[in-house]
Amino acid sequence: MSMVCLSDFEAYAKKYLPKIAWDYFAAGADDCTTRDENILAYKRIRFRPHMLRDVSVMDIRTKILGSEISFPVGIAPTGFHQLAWPDGEKSTARAARAMNTCYIASTYSTCTLEEISTAAPGGLRWFQLYIHRNRAASQQLVQRAEALGFQGLVLTADLPYTGKRRDDVRNGFRLPPHMKVKNLERAFEVCKMSFLDPSVTWNDIYWLQSLTRLPIIIKGILTREDAELAVKHGVQGIIVSNHGGRQLDEGPATIDALVEVVEAVRGRVEVYVDGGIRKGSDVLKALALGAKCVFIGRPALWGLAYKGEEGLQDVLKILQDEFRLSMALAG
Ligand code: FNR
Repeated sequence: MSMVCLSDFEAYAKKYLPKIAWDYFAAGADDCTTRDENILAYKRIRFRPHMLRDVSVMDIRTKILGSEISFPVGIAPTGFHQLAWPDGEKSTARAARAMNTCYIASTYSTCTLEEISTAAPGGLRWFQLYIHRNRAASQQLVQRAEALGFQGLVLTADLPYTGKRRDDVRNGFRLPPHMKVKNLERAFEVCKMSFLDPSVTWNDIYWLQSLTRLPIIIKGILTREDAELAVKHGVQGIIVSNHGGRQLDEGPATIDALVEVVEAVRGRVEVYVDGGIRKGSDVLKALALGAKCVFIGRPALWGLAYKGEEGLQDVLKILQDEFRLSMALAG
């Protein structure tokens, strides 16, 4: 198969993944309005390109929280990578390192944090946390991540409960018995799937700050009010995100929310965005509207489903080439 754009990887994944895994990756909440809107909103934005600028040499590197990445696209945290490829998150870590970009490993990984670190020593990695009802288990996870050299702690703020994803309900989605949420194996056995603590508030950022020296990035912010609170509570970064439209349906597309968040933050912390990035020109639009960097969720899973580490690298390379070309053509 000739893979030219990210939709080719999507088509491959849809054709070859078991239906239950495909449905889990593709799912959005309720009517999937926000999931689809994330993509449509990019299509409504138009460039005002400039001509006759020397674009023979371009530098697409950037820095996030002081670390250099080869281009402004990182890998968003997504769960259960072994559903896409047998080596799971180990392959993700290797691909991210090979492309010199940031990989945010999910609490819901099917490999341990130790396995992820060992697979790609030296790679830039942040750890994404869902706060557990058993706070000691979360504390231990955060400290394990810090000790292993993860360089940022991403607190996901938009999942006090899991959104209603109809296909997952219809399929009775659960992990196959040979896969485990390895970082939480014991804690998970005790609490089953309802281990999330829905009582988390802004004050818990202070609790996290007392546990770790890692910079804290808050993921799932969509309004200027919350952006202001995030800055006030001393986070170092904000990921404008609606969880790929998997949580509250009928909230804004992330690229639309980005504008008000960037305006409220006024450069005090770094702002990133995820949701609906499918082309290099989407990356350029997000940067033009004030994002420091973007993250991809589902496209990374499609890459893994295609050919593991190599497939994910292919996805990143295509985005990189398209981004460079859009920059040049936009002057
Ligand atoms: C996610 N997302 C997510 N976010 C998070 O903070 N922790 C997680 O474990 C997961 N798991 C997860 C699984 C799957 C299958 C998807 C599709 C998404 C949300 C993710 O980080 C990101 O916000 C969206 O995926 C971005 O949208 P796109 O790029 O998928 O359109």
